[in-house]
Amino acid sequence: MSEMKRPDVVGIGQCSYDILGRLQSFPQADQKTDLDEILLQGGGPIATALVTLSRFGTSTAFCGAVGDDEFGRKIEAGLRDEQVDCSGLKVEPGAASQTAFIAVDKDGLRTVFCHPGTTTPLEPKDLDHVLIRRSKILLLDGTHVEVACEAARIARANSVVTVLDGGSVRPGSAELLPLIDHLVVSEKFVGQLSPGKSPQDVSAHLLEYGATTAVVTCGAKGVWAQQRGDSLFHQSAFPVPVVDTTGCGDVFHGGYVYGLLQGWPLADIVRFASVCAALKARQLGGRSGIPNIDEVNSCPGSSCKCNFAGVV
Ligand SMILES: Nc1ncnc2c1ncn2[C@@H]1O[C@H](COP(=O)(O)OP(=O)(O)OP(=O)(O)O)[C@@H](O)[C@H]1O
Ligand SMILES: [Mg+2]
Repeated sequence: MSEMKRPDVVGIGQCSYDILGRLQSFPQADQKTDLDEILLQGGGPIATALVTLSRFGTSTAFCGAVGDDEFGRKIEAGLRDEQVDCSGLKVEPGAASQTAFIAVDKDGLRTVFCHPGTTTPLEPKDLDHVLIRRSKILLLDGTHVEVACEAARIARANSVVTVLDGGSVRPGSAELLPLIDHLVVSEKFVGQLSPGKSPQDVSAHLLEYGATTAVVTCGAKGVWAQQRGDSLFHQSAFPVPVVDTTGCGDVFHGGYVYGLLQGWPLADIVRFASVCAALKARQLGGRSGIPNIDEVNSCPGSSCKCNFAGVV
């Protein structure tokens, strides 16, 4: 750990290299189609959430794994270029990095073909306990689950707030969920955890795991959120000309963690995060469209009573 020692936010989880193509319509099998635009850039839920935070001026550190291949080098460079501390990024000799081919249709909906890579999960010996103890927020996505649980226990013992980006239920989720303060999960996660239940029915169930806050993101249908002891509420998605929804959830999580650092009320945090995610959707790629803080503050749709321009 050579660089900074006190990042406010530590993220443990996935990082990917994304190859994105924008097309008008999907071809049949064995046919060809033209792409309107092509873009290569880093992605992955935790990595992109940290890039969002970093663009807002928050100090961040990433813990995860890449291979020593070309995509791994690009993933690392993409994070370092955004001032994300990569001293917890393990480079595994001979392994392939996670890579995604993402086809984005004319409505901005993305279809992801993901190669998970061949890196092995981080092990407890890879975890820098001091890094976790000195942070303010620990952001997890349920991967590297043994290390994620260990880090969450350290966080719990040191008043570090834990946030889960729940994209899908994974092996080890049962052990991890009770260690999380803010369960900020997708509709897909809810469908896997509580089949047949709607997002608005499920927040009480999520809170039973012990979290203070349950948030379910539902794409263009907005967000359902509930804090323990308060009532459930809905935040609509902000209307924008949508080009690509890749990474909307990741940027939402970056915005959510930023709001937590400011100490805002939940409704303001969720609104801020929704604005961040909507602004991202205006461009191709999980990261190209991430707004800076001035853009978020000047977004007409974001007008609310809180001052978004807080100081971390
Ligand atoms: N079409 C859209 N228009 C405006 N905002 C959107 C749109 N799609 C998503 N968002 C915003 O982004 C948030 C997160 O999106 P979503 O629920 O799709 O995340 P996700 O399932 O985690 O996806 P991913 O992790 O792949 O980005 C939504 O709750 C909403 O606020
Ligand atoms: Mg997601």
